[in-house]
Amino acid sequence: MSTSGVEAFTHRFIPPRTPGALTLLLLHGTGGDENDLLQLGHALDPQAALLSPRGQVSERGANRWFRRLAEGVFDTDDLLARTDQLAAFITGAVEHYRLGASRLVAVGFSNGANIAATLLLRHPRLLRGAVLFAPMVTLNDPPMADLSGIGVFLAAGRDDPIARPEQAERLAEQLIERGAAVELRWHPGGHGIDAHILAQATAWLGKLRAATGSAPLP
Ligand code: MLT
Repeated sequence: MSTSGVEAFTHRFIPPRTPGALTLLLLHGTGGDENDLLQLGHALDPQAALLSPRGQVSERGANRWFRRLAEGVFDTDDLLARTDQLAAFITGAVEHYRLGASRLVAVGFSNGANIAATLLLRHPRLLRGAVLFAPMVTLNDPPMADLSGIGVFLAAGRDDPIARPEQAERLAEQLIERGAAVELRWHPGGHGIDAHILAQATAWLGKLRAATGSAPLP
């Protein structure tokens, strides 16, 4: 079996409701699976295709996207290798499901947001944008990728004990330094997604969708 094609990751695919819609790449948090974020994806954009793979690392039975040595301490070699494997899966899925490569937006929560951010930094032309809920800095010295034309909605909790506020701020800086258009939104809570943030992310995605429909794509 090929390890780079669409069959390399267990996943769910829900076709778009309208031609030319966005595809949301749904990346679950630690302990989730390919079913976890389908409802969230549908709430964010009811027309979008949903591509939802399952992370291949098992941490005492909890699915993740890459290994960690301790809470918030990442195994960088594993992170880089698995980011590349996920990128190959995405490329395979775009071909297999005949998706518009330029209409792909990652939506990640926590560990899923962390691999989404790493995808942006390591494979900058793969995604049109990303919605990052509760992300952290995964690379201290990321490559100087060109992220111009890429939109990122970044949501962080002022009281998040895992993805601390300074992590969101530093990640936003890394992305802005590389040319991404970043919208950083705060909520008062912890490591989660509240209704207010969901509404803001939905509105942001609507703007990205409109821009994607009319503007030349990067
Ligand atoms: C991570 O390991 O990616 C972060 O600590 C978030 C988590 O999954 O708990």
